[in-house]
Amino acid sequence: MHRAADAATLAELVALMDRYAVCAVGHNRPLSNEEHIAFSLQLGPMDRGKSPKIAGTGIRIPHNELVDQSNMDQDGAIYAEGDRRLAFKRANRLWHTDMSFRQVRATYSLLSAHVVPPEGGDTDFIDMRVVYDALPQATKARLDGLVVEHSYWYSRKLGGGPDPTETERASRPPARHPVVYVCPRTGRKSLYIASHVSGILGWPEDAARSLIDELMAFATQPRHVYSHKWRVGDVVIWDNLITLHRATPFDDTRYRRDMRRATCREAPVHSVPA
Ligand code: OGA
Ligand code: MN
Repeated sequence: MHRAADAATLAELVALMDRYAVCAVGHNRPLSNEEHIAFSLQLGPMDRGKSPKIAGTGIRIPHNELVDQSNMDQDGAIYAEGDRRLAFKRANRLWHTDMSFRQVRATYSLLSAHVVPPEGGDTDFIDMRVVYDALPQATKARLDGLVVEHSYWYSRKLGGGPDPTETERASRPPARHPVVYVCPRTGRKSLYIASHVSGILGWPEDAARSLIDELMAFATQPRHVYSHKWRVGDVVIWDNLITLHRATPFDDTRYRRDMRRATCREAPVHSVPA
């Protein structure tokens, strides 16, 4: 997948994604950053803005298109326990979908494995179309027309992260999306929620929290979960609009895990540099 794909191959990939929601592609070496970016761009516009900056840190991967999901700093040293960046990254262990806290959502994410730990650090996935279909009819009726608010800082806090600075908070305001997503290609419905959900529009906080908690508990039952065990060179592609995912724990102050993510968006975004 590191070569340019022709239109038929890309259409085939999109059809596979529409069918399976998550696809894994193995390679005998990790993709270079340039290959990763070039391939991903064929699947949609990518975020070319600056990543929001966590105060006081340097940049390890010099490409705005790639999100550094490793536990390493710019010198390749493993984050120390207590590092703010480690705390924020551990929030990936909550069930989420990428960039639901942005108004222009993520469509595909392509996560590439450069270094994997000897144990742990799998990534779990759920197909939220299967979840939606399995909901009781009465619940589906309650969801009709609901709009949900997603906040990046809400899930960082939930994941044990520190309070954001004002500049960090301002760099990612919340977004609003219908709780039911309908895929324009397949017509299938899915439940669009995540640990980023901070409320339901027009609902009191308690009622919103209890419905969201109930939906998350239903969605994340073990029978809905696929766990990906990484090998170096793997690229896993998922459709954020129809899945949830989470990182699973590993000994992250002892072993390196170097994962890099390209993210396609619903539309081009030109973020203002932070
Ligand atoms: C991501 C993500 C999980 C992991 O890259 O968006 O959530 O296992 N990754 O690294
Ligand atoms: Mn993610």
